[in-house]
Amino acid sequence: IPVDRFDLVIFGATGDLANRKILPGLFRRFCAGQIPDGSRIIGAARSEMTPEEFRDQTAAAIAEFGGKHSGDEESLKGFLTLLDYVPIDARGEDGWDALKSKVRPEEINAFYFSVAPALFGDLAERLHKRGIAGKDARIVVEKPFGRDLASAKALNATLAAYFDETQIYRIDHYLGKETVQNLMAVRFANILFEPLWNSQFVDHVQITVAETVGVGGRGSYYDKSGAMRDMVQNHLMQLLCLIAMEPPYHFDPDAVRDEKLKVIRALQPVVPADMVRGQYQASKDAPGYVEDAENPDSKTESYIAMKCHIANWRWVNTPFYLRTGKRLRARTSEIAITFKEPPHLIFDEAEGEWRENVLVIRLQPNEGMNLKMMIKEPGPGGMRLVQVPLDMSFAEALGEEADITDAYERLIMDVIRGNQTLFMRGDEVEAAWAWTDPIIEGWEERGDKPQPYDSGSSGPDDALMLMHRDGRRWREIR
Ligand code: BG6
Repeated sequence: IPVDRFDLVIFGATGDLANRKILPGLFRRFCAGQIPDGSRIIGAARSEMTPEEFRDQTAAAIAEFGGKHSGDEESLKGFLTLLDYVPIDARGEDGWDALKSKVRPEEINAFYFSVAPALFGDLAERLHKRGIAGKDARIVVEKPFGRDLASAKALNATLAAYFDETQIYRIDHYLGKETVQNLMAVRFANILFEPLWNSQFVDHVQITVAETVGVGGRGSYYDKSGAMRDMVQNHLMQLLCLIAMEPPYHFDPDAVRDEKLKVIRALQPVVPADMVRGQYQASKDAPGYVEDAENPDSKTESYIAMKCHIANWRWVNTPFYLRTGKRLRARTSEIAITFKEPPHLIFDEAEGEWRENVLVIRLQPNEGMNLKMMIKEPGPGGMRLVQVPLDMSFAEALGEEADITDAYERLIMDVIRGNQTLFMRGDEVEAAWAWTDPIIEGWEERGDKPQPYDSGSSGPDDALMLMHRDGRRWREIR
């Protein structure tokens, strides 16, 4: 479904995110017929560049990151006609009049802040004071949204000075992933799972976001951040919320976000014994974390595993185990919900080994779901139990229709539609930092050092112990 005509200004239009994700994503939406003629995409950045040069840069970015539409010359020509460019100094006075003359107040106006958070305030102030962004305009801000509670509050206050919360779209690109949204469909459009979705029936939940990449190239950012700030405070927290939240009364932005907020507020502090931090070591063909971060004394974690508790009626006895790390064995993100034993087993051991039901939601790659069930082994051999997967891959189940749209392009279209459901509200971000801060402060006070782990492994050995001592096991990363 096409969106209405819009003018989108991308600050930081020459940067990495714009070239890799935002512009190629918009191009794919254009090819899908979602962007109406007459819309404008206006790049804005410090570089002196003509609109023609910006189009050339964008064409090159699309050739590299445009995906299956990359070679579509006809569409590319059409898309490039939507582009314009204004050199602008976020902290100065240059370029703002030119920008104002290009943004049509009668259209939907969106301003994407793909710049360092230190510039958010400058941009917001100038857009407001110069009358470029009116009361219906939307601003889109990227993570990191602060580095602790105090800085997130300050950022929220800065934006709130010029924009209403209904105008602010805080991106967490995990919320734009196909399967992440599907989580809500699975939970709330089926009756099968919801009655079992609580401590009475769920033994535990595992959330894994494993990456094979290291931090080379962005070491200076990452070393001040670490896995906790870079991944847990936002992406893993959002996944946890979608699994744990109560059913919202409607699929409506505030109804959904109210329920997520309650989960974050119910999260208990994590004690040191329930956490393992790790740092990847050099392998024979790749440098280790400290080399990538160019900081031989770094105590920053590139891996974290933790056991979390949600103190509410639904989840009081169900631990949520989270882990994420760089340079692990495989790139895989999944959520696994392990159910409890049936209340009474009527089969003897001789009739096969009983195994738990597990619902695995694969976020990437090979998006899909897998429900492990016990059945009788087919054949004449009498009653023997075996576990089999009910497996569904979106690509196979839906064929061509399994349009696994990239998270960014979906979220940008939601901005144009004015739908905030998949964006974080200010109070949500603050609550997440309020939970994260004491954990990080604890490490700093104790001088906690992450444990080394081999590149290409599944993380530090102690992370295995975190589950073993509870009589449970991590799922394999593969
Ligand atoms: C980003 C983090 O937000 O998410 C990166 O800053 C991480 O460190 C990335 O690599 C992971 O995203 P995806 O979509 O590749 O899983």
